[in-house]
Amino acid sequence: MKNNLPAILGGKPAFPELVQMVRPVLPSFSEMAGDVENILSTGMVTKGRFMREFEQALSVHLGVKHAVAVSSCTSGMMLTHKALELSGDVIVPSFTFMATVSALVWAGLCPIFVDVDRATNNLDPAAAEAAITPQTTAIIAVHQFGNPADIVALEEIANRHSLKLIFDAAHGAGACYQGVPVGKQGTAQIFSLSPTKLLISGEGGIVATNSDDLAAKIRMGREYGNDGNYDSAFAGLNARMPEFNALLGMRSLENLEAAAQHRNETVALFQEVLGRLPGIGFQQVRAGDRHSYRELSITIESDSFGLTRDELALALAAENIDTRKYYQPPIHMQTAYRSYYDGRPLPNTDWLSSHSLSLPMWSNMSTDVSLGICETIQRLHENAPLIHKKVIQ
Ligand SMILES: Cc1ncc(COP(=O)(O)O)c(C=O)c1O
Repeated sequence: MKNNLPAILGGKPAFPELVQMVRPVLPSFSEMAGDVENILSTGMVTKGRFMREFEQALSVHLGVKHAVAVSSCTSGMMLTHKALELSGDVIVPSFTFMATVSALVWAGLCPIFVDVDRATNNLDPAAAEAAITPQTTAIIAVHQFGNPADIVALEEIANRHSLKLIFDAAHGAGACYQGVPVGKQGTAQIFSLSPTKLLISGEGGIVATNSDDLAAKIRMGREYGNDGNYDSAFAGLNARMPEFNALLGMRSLENLEAAAQHRNETVALFQEVLGRLPGIGFQQVRAGDRHSYRELSITIESDSFGLTRDELALALAAENIDTRKYYQPPIHMQTAYRSYYDGRPLPNTDWLSSHSLSLPMWSNMSTDVSLGICETIQRLHENAPLIHKKVIQ
């Protein structure tokens, strides 16, 4: 018998076990075994051949002169800001993950929060330009959830005002800007290779840049700022990528294109089914660009959908479908960062923060799972008045 009653109203959950947000697709042990043995037998567990090979493979893949492997996207951004000797104010979206801003604050910089575009979720170039003052030294844009930022508009603004343009490309692996991978544009782009991403090294990051000088400084910076003579050039970190992680990253790179394609096909299915429901929105992707869909973020308008974002999240949890409210609270309202907020209106940030919901998305999600999630959301919409009544009781 078909189970039609939503679980939150007493029906059977749509999935017997939790559908997690993330399921990393990793190589099998046999694919790694020979090289793992090599690392162990040579004793080169750090600063070895695999890190160099991974950097080389990534610079070819990204079409960029330098891809410097680091311990995380966060450490890569901290080192980039430090190496560029940024000072004063840096323009940054508030609708982002906390690390975009923590790296700035660690580098002694003042974040100036500006609004994003509601349709793309990305930094609004006009809002960024309006926030520039003589204290501004850089703009940080994010390829939010894997949707390429408005690169050309931001480059034009950064060049006109002689500012550095840095991309938090944590979600960028697998994304393409006008047919080419994001990574080579701007002053630098910093990727995350943590297990929630399409390209996975366990933990890790990549600083991609065409600048010889910046790449050299990041290489020094990941070694405490020591170029070998033990006279620190600047205050660096230990931000090296270990050999095991570089090896995992190499194998994962072989699967990146398939992962991006699979996610795009899966999201097309979500769009087809959920697009028929009133009140559900998807991130707008510029024609000619490819989203990585590291995150599938939808928006819910309760007037037409019948449930608020929070009510839908609650009802999905009862169905064993995990979700995340990215990004609530936005950065300008977080305890560590609210003192930096200059009070300028951020209407799209506020709206997205209360209306966006991330759904599970994996590089190998089956049609059964994706359609199961879509059908569940459809059923919740059909039962919206009863669910709403139950939740507010
Ligand atoms: C937008 C954004 N920036 C930065 C980071 C930090 O990446 P990492 O964990 O590699 O430091 C994340 C983590 O997911 C992120 O989502």
